[in-house]
Amino acid sequence: MTAWRFARLDGLSAREVHDILRARAAVFVVEQACAFQDVDGADPESWHLFAAAGGEVRAYCRLVPAGVKFAEPSIGRVVTARGARGTGLGRALMREALARAQALWPGQAIRIGAQLHLERFYGEFGFARASEPYDEDGIPHIEMLRPGGPA
Ligand SMILES: CC(C)(COP(=O)(O)OP(=O)(O)OC[C@H]1O[C@@H](n2cnc3c(N)ncnc32)[C@H](O)[C@@H]1OP(=O)(O)O)[C@@H](O)C(=O)NCCC(=O)NCCS
Repeated sequence: MTAWRFARLDGLSAREVHDILRARAAVFVVEQACAFQDVDGADPESWHLFAAAGGEVRAYCRLVPAGVKFAEPSIGRVVTARGARGTGLGRALMREALARAQALWPGQAIRIGAQLHLERFYGEFGFARASEPYDEDGIPHIEMLRPGGPA
C-alpha cells in the first residue's frame, strides 16, 4: 500500500520541498519540453500530497484552495515519476487527492486545468469537460469540473 504524505508547504522539510520541485521539473519542464513558471506562487497556499521511495518522489499533486487558481478548489501538478507509470499509481494518487479534497472542502465542486489528452483519465474520477480547448504554455488543455455534492 502506498504511504501518502499530506502537508502544507510550511509543514514540509526543506528536503521534501526540494524533492517535490525536482520531480515536478523533471516531468513538466524537462520531459514535456516546456519552458514555464512551475513555481508560480500557489505552493504556499496549497496542500501537497505525495509518495516517495528511496529519496525520490514517485507521485505528487497539490490541492489548491478556492479562489487561487479557480473560483472552486483545484487539483494540479498531477504527476508520477517516469519509472512508475502504468502501474496504477496515477489512479491511486487521484483517489487519494479526491478523498483529501472531500475532507478539506466537503461537498465542493473541483475544477482542474487538464492536459487535453488526459480527458478520459480524469473522466474516470467524475470530471467532465467544462471549457473549449485552450493553449497553456504550448500544451492543449481543457478545464474539467467535478460537481459538488456527497463524495
Ligand atoms: C497522468 C499520469 C499522472 C498518470 O499516471 P500513471 O501512473 O501512468 O497512471 P496509472 O497507471 O494509474 O493509469 C494510467 C492511465 O493514465 C492515462 N494516461 C497516462 N498517460 C497517458 C497518455 N499519454 N495519454 C492518454 N492517457 C494517458 C490513461 O487513462 C491510462 O490508463 P490506461 O493505461 O488504462 O489507458 C502520468 O502519466 C504523468 O505523470 N504524466 C505526465 C505529467 C502530466 O502530464 N500530468 C497531468 C497534468 S494535467
